Amino acid sequence: MKTITFDASRECMTGPEMTHLTRWWDHAVGYEIYIRSFADGDGDGIGDFAGLTERLDHLAWLGVDVVWITPFYPSPMADWGYDVADYTAVDDRFGSLDDVDACVARAHELGLKLIIDIVPNHSSDQHAWFQEARQGLDNPYRDHYIWADPAADGGPPNNWIGYFGGPAWTLDEASGQYYLHLFLPSQPDLNWRNPAVIDAFDDVLRFWLDRGVDGFRIDVAQALVKDRELRSNPQLGPWDETMYRWEQWDAFDHVHDILQPETVDIYRRWNRIAADYDALLLGETYDLHRLDGLDRLVSGGDALHVGFWFGAMHMDWNAEEIRSTFETPIRSISAGLGWAQNSHDEHRSVSRFGGGDLGRRRALTFALLLMGLPGVPFLYQGEELGLESGTLRPEDKLDPVGEANPSSGRDEARTPMTWEPVEGFGFSTGTPWLPYGGRQAADTVAVQRDDPDSWLNRHRRLIAVRKDLAEIAHAPFEWVETAPGVVAFRRHDVVFAANVSPSTVALDMGATVLFRTGAGDALELAPDEGAIVRLDPASMVT
Ligand code: NOJ
Repeated sequence: MKTITFDASRECMTGPEMTHLTRWWDHAVGYEIYIRSFADGDGDGIGDFAGLTERLDHLAWLGVDVVWITPFYPSPMADWGYDVADYTAVDDRFGSLDDVDACVARAHELGLKLIIDIVPNHSSDQHAWFQEARQGLDNPYRDHYIWADPAADGGPPNNWIGYFGGPAWTLDEASGQYYLHLFLPSQPDLNWRNPAVIDAFDDVLRFWLDRGVDGFRIDVAQALVKDRELRSNPQLGPWDETMYRWEQWDAFDHVHDILQPETVDIYRRWNRIAADYDALLLGETYDLHRLDGLDRLVSGGDALHVGFWFGAMHMDWNAEEIRSTFETPIRSISAGLGWAQNSHDEHRSVSRFGGGDLGRRRALTFALLLMGLPGVPFLYQGEELGLESGTLRPEDKLDPVGEANPSSGRDEARTPMTWEPVEGFGFSTGTPWLPYGGRQAADTVAVQRDDPDSWLNRHRRLIAVRKDLAEIAHAPFEWVETAPGVVAFRRHDVVFAANVSPSTVALDMGATVLFRTGAGDALELAPDEGAIVRLDPASMVT
């Protein structure tokens, strides 16, 4: 066995080797709840706090530490809640403030931390601020949003495009100015250069922290502040509105619309607020190219605590891609990474990795690798069951992103959670807002709990083994070279290995198996299997 350690300390997650944990999230495992699809307590077909609170014991049993709940605020639901009309209230469909309090209390009783989604980059166009802002150029709320006069030809003020594709500007006929929206036209971007917006969000944070939440997942965390002069981005290649949305995005070099240096000042301020409550700031830091910009948001330790790295949702199943998906951020971002292979925004990894049991084996093995990386791994509801993307008929789909380009749609990841093998799958007694997507009894929590070899029980054992490895939390990350086609790395005396080759391979090291995705405790891995092993002291010499 040969290990390769990154040498320059700035280039890796080394840091002093510590066996103690300094912050509650240092060695945590997270779990994302898409509230609309988790558990419906009142039978209207939409998940809500009442249902969710009852199901929290599943998460305690599974062994995760921190739960992230997607937006539940009053909203016209143009983007299913990511279009917020009031930041300090609860949409009736999800419950009430009392229900939030009850949920927080139950989570804490079970030893779970609970963080909530906050959406500061944009509001809904139905938010009172935007309704006011639209009243005219002199309205006191006008500067809560980003307005600009048309270009000389009457078109949009610059060439910025939105994350969902198409231009990021919409003309407000009444005033003759355009307003900016990096998402839907009904999601106008807030103006983070306006101190009134900054102050308003300080209050929003405290409002929820005072109710006992343990932190925030910050939507579109990379984009809050925009270029002061709203300069056009350099164009890198051809662009038209019919292209797949990420191809549209990648046709530009996003130097002026996202990752502006001033954004970190907002998070420094939030960090001071969070410190009063020992709360976590977890950013949806979505960018795969500008690593220096991401590094600035998380690495100083005084801004975001953790930022998600999204490479794991955009890679194929091969050893090289897995290695570079891990190495790229680990080399460039010196602290605070969050990892996930699934979310409510992407097709499920089981399907992306080949589907069926092949995809399930690979997704579990990939989860094993994520559990060993420096940072916080997150599961997305249903991942623990080995769920594939739901299968939906075109007429069942509801995601506005899929309208322009069906392959971009996100509904397949959002079908309801499957709890029991009964009609409605224990999710709802009513008609679900989105169909179940072709689930079977074998996909349910109840059936899988009874089978010690189920995907659910294997995920649970994996989480339990990870939990016992607190000594890796601050240990250096080192690649381990074993057989070709094996991705392996070491943290302290623990090796995480995955066989990504088509043949069975022996792990050439003196070690004890702590966990295997497959059966047995031999030091060998069948194709697509993974293992966590503890090195014998004699093998520790590198
Ligand atoms: C990221 C969220 O995860 C996604 O669902 C949403 O559409 C966009 N941000 C806009 O808020």
